[in-house]
Amino acid sequence: MSAGTSDRQPRCTAPRAGGVAKRLNWRPAVLANLRRGPDRDASLRCYADLAQDYERATSRIREVRSRAVERLALRVGDTVFDVACGAGAMLPDMARLVGLQGLVIGIEQSPHMAALAREASQGLAQVEVHGCPVEEFVAPCAADALVFVYAHDVQQNQSALQAVFARAKPGARVVAAGLCLLPWWGMPINAWVLWGARRYLTTWHGLRSPWQQLLHWCPNLQIVERFHGGTTYLAVGTVAPARAGGDERGRG
Ligand SMILES: C[S@@+](CC[C@H](N)C(=O)[O-])C[C@H]1O[C@@H](n2cnc3c(N)ncnc32)[C@H](O)[C@@H]1O
Repeated sequence: MSAGTSDRQPRCTAPRAGGVAKRLNWRPAVLANLRRGPDRDASLRCYADLAQDYERATSRIREVRSRAVERLALRVGDTVFDVACGAGAMLPDMARLVGLQGLVIGIEQSPHMAALAREASQGLAQVEVHGCPVEEFVAPCAADALVFVYAHDVQQNQSALQAVFARAKPGARVVAAGLCLLPWWGMPINAWVLWGARRYLTTWHGLRSPWQQLLHWCPNLQIVERFHGGTTYLAVGTVAPARAGGDERGRG
């Protein structure tokens, strides 16, 4: 991108500018994530760059995804929300488990990632990909289960959480998995984690206990597994009836 073009948005970490600017561009990416909350525009810019190579670059989280799907304990006919579904890697497995009577809804704001998710779920009639920010999601029906996998930005966003839990049935199963920081003794490892994650989320805020805000809806949420030397957690819980916004009517 040359100066003077109409595209004035700064890129996340991989600018079209070359040379020194490109090599030093990690600085803004790491420092910008000191912001107190997620930044939608920054995230969209990052995933425009990351989408093409996303599945290959994130191969080490495949095991976490499969464990998350197992822990959801999906049944035939269930409706499940895959919150921030990314490139849709979990959609086909969940579609198989809920069957044609069920519904899998992927919610993804990046048009590049949503396009990949649609591709990944092509031919699966029970899958819908909603290309919108989670905070603007309007569910066609209530959820029996919700999954958040490496959805840190969403988990730090109150209005996004309100939007999805507004359509969660009482007792809906919730699985959350993603990065978390180790205590003080893990500082060098934490630095490594922050470096690796710098382009995949837009705020470091909340990384010590990323599940914290989910406790409002799922007070029984518990960490049941750890991966990657403790830097990835997997938590399971259910939506407290008093907090649930969804109804029992199911699809329609
Ligand atoms: C690290 S990726 C994880 C994707 C997927 N869950 C996986 O397992 O690979 C985070 C995703 O969250 C999406 N995202 C971030 N904030 C969002 C929001 N407010 N609404 C919808 N999607 C969001 C990003 O576009 C990105 O695709």
